Amino acid sequence: MNAANAKLLSIVGGAGAVYLGLAVLMGVLPGAWLSRTPPGPGVKPLTAEEDLGREVYVSEGCSYCHTQQVRPLSTDTPFGRPSAPGDFAYQTPELLGSERNGPDLTNIGARQPSTVWQYMHLYQPRSVVPQSIMPAFPWLFRVVDRLPPGETAVPIPKAYAPEHGFVIPTKRGKALVAYLLSLKQPPLPGQKALAPTAPAAPAASAEANAAAPAGANAAAGAKLFADRCAVCHGATGEGVPGAFPSLKGDPVVNAASAKEQIRTVLFGLQGKKIGDTSYSAAMPPFADQLSDDDIMQIINHERSSWGNHAPLITAKDVAAERSSKP
Ligand code: HEC
Ligand code: HEC
Repeated sequence: MNAANAKLLSIVGGAGAVYLGLAVLMGVLPGAWLSRTPPGPGVKPLTAEEDLGREVYVSEGCSYCHTQQVRPLSTDTPFGRPSAPGDFAYQTPELLGSERNGPDLTNIGARQPSTVWQYMHLYQPRSVVPQSIMPAFPWLFRVVDRLPPGETAVPIPKAYAPEHGFVIPTKRGKALVAYLLSLKQPPLPGQKALAPTAPAAPAASAEANAAAPAGANAAAGAKLFADRCAVCHGATGEGVPGAFPSLKGDPVVNAASAKEQIRTVLFGLQGKKIGDTSYSAAMPPFADQLSDDDIMQIINHERSSWGNHAPLITAKDVAAERSSKP
């Protein structure tokens, strides 16, 4: 080896060593250090099914449009509290995402806990959010002529349903929804579970709200309904046939006594036949998320909108039902 070659070799070798050193210092060590962050209080490891769901989330490219990071900015408050390092203990590599074409999903399990809604939305987003631009993921479902034992058909509205047969989720579809429902932010120490008046408006219902007639927007009840209820019952209260009941002309909403309506909103409802329909979805309870005043506003909005004419209520009526838990 001549002197020139030896010199070249030492330059290349030296540069290689610097490169390797920097790679370890800036790439490997921070990763190793971050992965030792202990889980925050209440942060649970994923089950085997949720873990498979996370793989489906990655392979279907959900991260291209959805973030899982709540920044400490007021624009992010609808998505939850600011994310903390301990939130990601069981979620490495983190699926932070950088594009928000759709809402942040850090807390989607708390915001939209209805499995049926999630299935309908994945099969065809337009079936529950008419103005949605999210792509459909029909390959996470199968169409069968007869329901296998123990399976429930996803109640897809006629306009989007296959001509015949029942739509049921595949193993991957079920796992993805199990994963989505596991995305819930545990409260930080010293923080309440959910700020009772924090608006949990997904982008879509904010749009629905904008589409409501002018003037209706000003009413607190209309805004709360758009934020919390329209996602299932529709911006105009008409629901989704076969999946979520219409509140327009509904006997419970128009009853002289609001007792049953108040209790439904506070404690949720499941398995009731309304009209001729049994709904496979459940109505989630709102007692932990909405104050007596909020619920009063929402109920009065329902009782005086879409042709409904029923006696209005006060926050005291809500308080009375809340204190007599089932
Ligand atoms: C091309 C962009 C895009 C992709 C890819 C995408 N989404 Fe969405 N997603 C959106 C948009 C836009 C919305 C808001 C409108 C709506 O609710 O449908 C949304 C809404 C949602 C919501 C409701 C959020 C809320 O706060 O109400 C969920 C849940 C969701 N997406 C899950 C997924 C999952 C799971 C995947 C992957 C299988 C996925 N999305 C892929 C664009 C996307
Ligand atoms: C995840 C979807 C979902 C959301 C969100 C939701 N509901 Fe419901 N709601 C349902 C379903 C499903 C039923 C029917 C349950 C049954 O039949 O057992 C229902 C039933 C009701 C009923 C009873 C109707 C009757 O005749 O008994 C009222 C009233 C009602 N919802 C009001 C509301 C209000 C107010 C909100 C917002 C604070 C809301 N819902 C949010 C799904 C939802």
